[in-house]
Amino acid sequence: MPSRSWLLSLAISLLAIVWTAVGLDNGLALTPPMGWMTWQRFRCITDCAKYPDECISERLIKRTADLMVEKGYADAGYKYIVIDDCWLEKNRSDDGYLLEDRARFPHGMKALAHYVHSKGLLFGIYENYGNKTCAGYPGIYGHEKVDISRFADWGIDYIKVDGCYFYGNDYSKGYELLQKTLNSTGRPIVYSCSYPAYEDESSIPTDFQLLADNCNLWRNYDDIQDSWNSVTQIVDWFALKQDHIAKFAGPGHWNDPDMLLIGNYGLSYEQSKTQMALWAILAAPLLMSNDLTNIRKEYEEILLNKRIIEIDQDPLGIQGLRVYRRSSIEVWTRKISPVNIDEYSYAVAFCSRRTDGSPYEFTTTLRRIGLKFTMGYTIQDVYSGDEWDGIYLSNTNLTVRVPPTGVVFLKATVLI
Ligand SMILES: *[C@@H]1O[C@H](CO)[C@@H](O)[C@H](O)[C@H]1NC(C)=O
Ligand SMILES: *[C@@H]1O[C@H](CO)[C@@H](O)[C@H](O)[C@H]1NC(C)=O
Ligand SMILES: *[C@@H]1O[C@H](CO)[C@@H](O)[C@H](O)[C@H]1NC(C)=O
Ligand SMILES: *[C@@H]1O[C@H](CO)[C@@H](O)[C@H](O)[C@H]1NC(C)=O
Repeated sequence: MPSRSWLLSLAISLLAIVWTAVGLDNGLALTPPMGWMTWQRFRCITDCAKYPDECISERLIKRTADLMVEKGYADAGYKYIVIDDCWLEKNRSDDGYLLEDRARFPHGMKALAHYVHSKGLLFGIYENYGNKTCAGYPGIYGHEKVDISRFADWGIDYIKVDGCYFYGNDYSKGYELLQKTLNSTGRPIVYSCSYPAYEDESSIPTDFQLLADNCNLWRNYDDIQDSWNSVTQIVDWFALKQDHIAKFAGPGHWNDPDMLLIGNYGLSYEQSKTQMALWAILAAPLLMSNDLTNIRKEYEEILLNKRIIEIDQDPLGIQGLRVYRRSSIEVWTRKISPVNIDEYSYAVAFCSRRTDGSPYEFTTTLRRIGLKFTMGYTIQDVYSGDEWDGIYLSNTNLTVRVPPTGVVFLKATVLI
């Protein structure tokens, strides 16, 4: 008779097959992509004379690649280094090629990709399906084949395609064409699609199945800004749409709430913990955008927390949901492994929007937030790693104290 753990792994592989069958089949992003991207922290700083340490340049990318390895981010799973907008010359070459800015990328993108690869990391770039990029550099529209084959030749492993300056009426067709063009290069390239955010803005309904068929990840909503207000807006949008969008996330295809702000100016320590926890609940790509040279230790610890990364990268790839909201306390849960036959383990985030002073005491039972396994769960505090004593049955009371705008993040593991 097959053992229980054998059945368990069979169930997990079957699930994985079912999930991967419904989306883009390029073998990539089987867990949410992790890495670092220029935009949120460095925007379109191009004046290297004035801001030598911050301008979008090969210097910034090399420095970040070095630090990703030295500070343990690479080992923790952060693999992609992605240059967002503002890396190009304002005009194409006379023979129609895109040119990297020659002052800021004097050795060219191919050499830079090589440098990033030599560190054991992967390299990503940005373009825009339209006549211009959002910051006004040459767009890819009308040059799809030439540009993408050049990117493949440079050795890129990831492309974010934005949606500014598009005057047509069907984004998805163009993005589908780009997917086919990417595939035809034969190079495995993670494909990030920004167009749902533009459709959302214009109240155009998005065909999420088509998205999952064509893109490894997609930006659903507005760009993140360096503030708690921006985080809560994004999180509210994801909660509002969850019944519609969560089911399209899975190995190879992910909803993307945008970059992690952690280590920058706008979020407090507690708010940073909340962003990290919720991004893990949402099975979100973990793309930092910060200056790794001077990031404070306690923020670094949030980004490098192995238990949180493990939840984010759970192989089942099931996006979590907001399951409770009252008195400005929210409970978010995500089904994760291990699974006992058909009972999941869960990541559970208790988040507070409260701004009154003391931590808010909140009591619930596991059953009330959807954890119904009769044999019970063991509980671990994900941030500290502390295991709670005993077994938690679905009807026992569980009390947490949630700090203002903070989080209590737990992992409830099914007994096996
Ligand atoms: C770029 O091209 C435009 C139009 O083709 C031209 O007017 C402009 O002078 C060019 N800019 C540079 C920096 O070469
Ligand atoms: C690009 O610009 C041309 C000329 O202004 C316009 O006809 C075309 O529709 C634009 N294409 C896109 C994708 O916006
Ligand atoms: C191209 O698409 C085929 C069919 O979906 C897939 O098997 C293959 O891995 C893809 N190749 C690349 C390089 O994306
Ligand atoms: C569980 O908590 C509820 C609400 O706080 C309380 O009314 C109830 O008495 C508690 N039950 C037990 C067994 O402690």
